[in-house]
Amino acid sequence: MEYRVGMQDLSWWKRAVIYQVYPRSFQDSNGDGIGDLEGIRARLDYFVDLGVDAIWISPIYPSPMADFGYDVADYCGIDPIFGTMEDFDHLLEKAHQRGLRLILDFVPNHTSDQHPWFVASRSSRDNPKRNWYRWRDQPNNWQSHFGGSAWEFDGETGQYYLHEFLKEQPDLNWRNPAVKAAMFDALRFWLRKGVDGFRVDVMWLMIKDDQFRDNPPNPAYEAGQSTRNKFLPVYDADRPEVHEVVAEMRGVLEEFGDRVLIGEIYLPIERLMHYYGRELRGANLPFNFQLLQCPWTADDLARTIDEYLSALPAGSWPNWVLGNHDKSRIASRIGLNMARAAALLLFSLPGTLTIYYGEELGMQDVPIPPDEAHDPAEKRQPGIGMGRDPERTPMPWDPSPLCGFTDGLPWLPIGEANRAVNVEFSRKDPHSMLSLYRHLLQLRHAEPALVSGRLSELKAGNRVIQFVRSDARKAFGIVVNLSEELRRVAVKAGSIAACTDLHRVGELVSDGVNLAPAEAMIIEVRDAATNVVIV
Ligand code: GLC
Repeated sequence: MEYRVGMQDLSWWKRAVIYQVYPRSFQDSNGDGIGDLEGIRARLDYFVDLGVDAIWISPIYPSPMADFGYDVADYCGIDPIFGTMEDFDHLLEKAHQRGLRLILDFVPNHTSDQHPWFVASRSSRDNPKRNWYRWRDQPNNWQSHFGGSAWEFDGETGQYYLHEFLKEQPDLNWRNPAVKAAMFDALRFWLRKGVDGFRVDVMWLMIKDDQFRDNPPNPAYEAGQSTRNKFLPVYDADRPEVHEVVAEMRGVLEEFGDRVLIGEIYLPIERLMHYYGRELRGANLPFNFQLLQCPWTADDLARTIDEYLSALPAGSWPNWVLGNHDKSRIASRIGLNMARAAALLLFSLPGTLTIYYGEELGMQDVPIPPDEAHDPAEKRQPGIGMGRDPERTPMPWDPSPLCGFTDGLPWLPIGEANRAVNVEFSRKDPHSMLSLYRHLLQLRHAEPALVSGRLSELKAGNRVIQFVRSDARKAFGIVVNLSEELRRVAVKAGSIAACTDLHRVGELVSDGVNLAPAEAMIIEVRDAATNVVIV
């Protein structure tokens, strides 16, 4: 396998490392225990110091918070919990002054049931907004992603409405041109202000079957799983018409120049690739969640990387993530030590990277007792591992009791393990996870070969994964020991440019190198010119 980027312009978002902020948990500025925009603004220097290029902020719009902001009651406002529109404008201005891009979350599949559109829609069967949502006399067998039927009966008007998530999140009808027009205007509202792009929530769910056919049963369903798994999502997800909507959305962004459209899409690789769109007129970056789902072994990782890169449509741009606000943190999934190797692997892959706040510290999931759960996914289906509170806990800034996150009562506990890796401490420790991330960010920005160079010689064996990244000027050998044992690996001669053990940076290697358990390194090949084939 050999992956080549080819001759492409490098828009800002292609070179970017994006940092996801979960705003409730980043920095509180007013003592209510919940993070806010002013808090993010106060921490802008942190992003600059870390070296990231863009910030994506999970939803900050007015919301009853049934799903913590993913239930939007006004697409063109700011929830008072997060601040005011002035705070937002200020944040955007200050971020841009520092050269940081700002990406917002856009939630098109559903609104809040408190959104004036839905209030109108449910008020009577002949309200002009009735057809903005999906109303039916009878439910079909579609199941909510949070468990139970995706249909809710509305006694007032005697019909059921569709909600792929909570009943407080009714699904919009994207087949209705008036819905499209209103939603695209909301995008324009923020684009006019100067936001640099959007991460689009559940992009693959936006359009459902126009005949509302029942989903077929899932033969692999097992008792105890979410009821969503009872059926295969044939008719309420990944419908062909969705690509038309995505292309139109992309068109709206292009009215404003070089902005980025990122899609949240949980689909197998082959289906995912369709979201780049016909002639690449779809999402710039359909989120690649392969590293979130892949078993953490050398064979599985090599196969996944190969499959993903081989499946990319010509001219499209890859991207990678290790975590987000819906998944257990990488340090909890694979352990703190292995998470360092994961970081090095991530920064060695071609394309755009997105990191989840706290990953750079080695933050771990914080166990939340069942009776203290906030997340509706946990509350509706307790005890089957659906809860997302553990990965959404406050950012630890310093070692003080409230870790500099708030002066009040934090909305979720901070957790002792996370306090221990607080920013203040991690910054002083030259071998902390934070120091590793800063080093990797610097290296990536200094070495275009790591961003856009070709990837070749990918192989896995003896629980070690290896590959080469190179462009016309430089070549880097990447080796990652996924085992718990010492490994001796044959490599090309060079010097260590990055290593999970930062003491080893600068060390010269000749034909072989010893790797401690979970050790990984990027080796700058000495005689690059003789090793590199110019493409
Ligand atoms: C996406 C979000 C998730 C949210 C859901 C419904 O998957 O990432 O947090 O609950 O959509 O909007």
